[in-house]
Amino acid sequence: MPATRPKSFCTESREQRNSVSAMWHTSDGDLEQSHPLGWSLFTSIMTASHGVVTYAAPLPLRVVLETTCESCLMKILIADKFEAAGIEELKKLADEVTCEPELKEAALTQRVAEYEPSVLIVRSTKVKADTLAAGKQLKVIIRAGSGYDTIDIAGAQERGIKVANCPGMNAVAVAELAMGHLINLDRRISDNVADLRAHKWDKKVYSKARGLKNSTLGIVGVGRIGTEIAKRALAFEMNVLFYDIVPDLQPVDHPKCKRATLDTLFRESDYITLHVPGTGDTKHLINAERLAMMKPQACIINTSRATIIDEAALITALKEGTIRAAAVDLYENQPPADGKEINSPLADVPNLYGTHHIGASTQQAQLAVAEETVRIVREFAGSGNVLNCVNE
Ligand SMILES: NC(=O)c1ccc[n+]([C@@H]2O[C@H](COP(=O)([O-])OP(=O)(O)OC[C@H]3O[C@@H](n4cnc5c(N)ncnc54)[C@H](O)[C@@H]3O)[C@@H](O)[C@H]2O)c1
Repeated sequence: MPATRPKSFCTESREQRNSVSAMWHTSDGDLEQSHPLGWSLFTSIMTASHGVVTYAAPLPLRVVLETTCESCLMKILIADKFEAAGIEELKKLADEVTCEPELKEAALTQRVAEYEPSVLIVRSTKVKADTLAAGKQLKVIIRAGSGYDTIDIAGAQERGIKVANCPGMNAVAVAELAMGHLINLDRRISDNVADLRAHKWDKKVYSKARGLKNSTLGIVGVGRIGTEIAKRALAFEMNVLFYDIVPDLQPVDHPKCKRATLDTLFRESDYITLHVPGTGDTKHLINAERLAMMKPQACIINTSRATIIDEAALITALKEGTIRAAAVDLYENQPPADGKEINSPLADVPNLYGTHHIGASTQQAQLAVAEETVRIVREFAGSGNVLNCVNE
């Protein structure tokens, strides 16, 4: 049985809500009779609930009130892969839940139009204006992750649809991937392995790593992920320089963790890692001019969004050797999650180490995101409030 609904969840008029029927059940559960019930009796019995509600009348009768108001139903459409445990929890909260991970673009819009969900949950699936327009009952979109640049926030705002995210739930996962890239850039583990698989042995070439201790790591953006990186880099005894548009942020209180301007960070760092959101303000924040400030042996890591680095400028810097190497997890021309091929010029650059957009993809992170999504739905079902709302 779904949880009781807040009045705010129902957008129907009072007259429409009058279409409530009452069914008298005997104590052994048999239906005796049923007839329409007026608004005043309805509200006197059921003050705060919609949906199917049981009212314990003096025995032997039990009264079941059933509203016919469609918009009182909480229907959840999950249009991406989602933890099975999370789906089970959502079923306890909602009237209906369907998980259809393959829905994208026009198929998503069509499904939203016919299913009429009140809550839409997505991970990488894009939610554009067409889908928003089709969602006549849509009240909340939950991005089961931290970045929400895949959702038309302005369009949702216009239609009064709240958008929520799950900030910080995958911060450690992304930080761990960035640290993996950092070590790989120093020791070239992936090249070692590729050569070994080809039965090649080159101890001489692979013995030239510098080591990370006392090297300088520049962190651009010290929110949740950047802070986790700073902690780990300090554990590696690195020096940390950081830059963030928020002036008074201090990710870790440590003498080796210092604020710098963006230019200083680019000039002085041996490794640079990017952890800012993909917005209009951060588009090509890292361009040819900024890449030219880097030391020739320095490397850059991008596990945030492809748009933050000018990809063509990065390829030029890597090919001309003005920087030593780069590692990325995202690509301008990225295949869909179930794609089998990537058509990106970055794939042809030998000193570019790319992963397959796996930053948030650990079991720990996916479970944490699912739990947070359930928490948002539970709160919405109970009070009508939208936690972590990004467009209030
Ligand atoms: N690779 C992946 O799979 C993956 C997974 C999760 C998140 N991400 C990306 O990582 C980004 C960061 O995530 P987070 O949880 O740390 O976000 P966050 O909001 O906690 O931190 C972002 C930080 O960037 C700062 N910032 C914003 N604009 C800036 C600018 N122009 N210059 C400097 N600093 C700026 C903010 O002040 C904030 O401190 C997300 O927006 C997302 O794009 C990628």
